[in-house]
Amino acid sequence: MTGKRLRGHGLERGTRVDFTIDGQAARAYEGESVSAAVMAARDLGLRRTEHDQPRGYFCGMGVCFECVMVVDGVPNTRSCVTWVSEGMVVEHQDGAGPAGARDAPSH
Ligand code: FES
Repeated sequence: MTGKRLRGHGLERGTRVDFTIDGQAARAYEGESVSAAVMAARDLGLRRTEHDQPRGYFCGMGVCFECVMVVDGVPNTRSCVTWVSEGMVVEHQDGAGPAGARDAPSH
């Protein structure tokens, strides 16, 4: 099962990667961004604003910050320019992210 990914079309996928989204198991493929993996496995919403408005993928190149998620405990991680990896823990972000979490990505 490839989720919402295109099938066929001569596409080759990287090695399977298992990770979690909000504590639930998900599957992705090496070479996919976190946002692509989340959208393929689950939904288009990646975060919610402080006013509870949904936000998702917009620029796809690390400029707009609409796609920020909590990745391996790091809030405000731009999921469009972060590559999914084995065992990664991804969470949808509410507002500025969880209190007490680290501020800057370490990867
Ligand atoms: S979609 Fe714009 S920074 Fe990720």
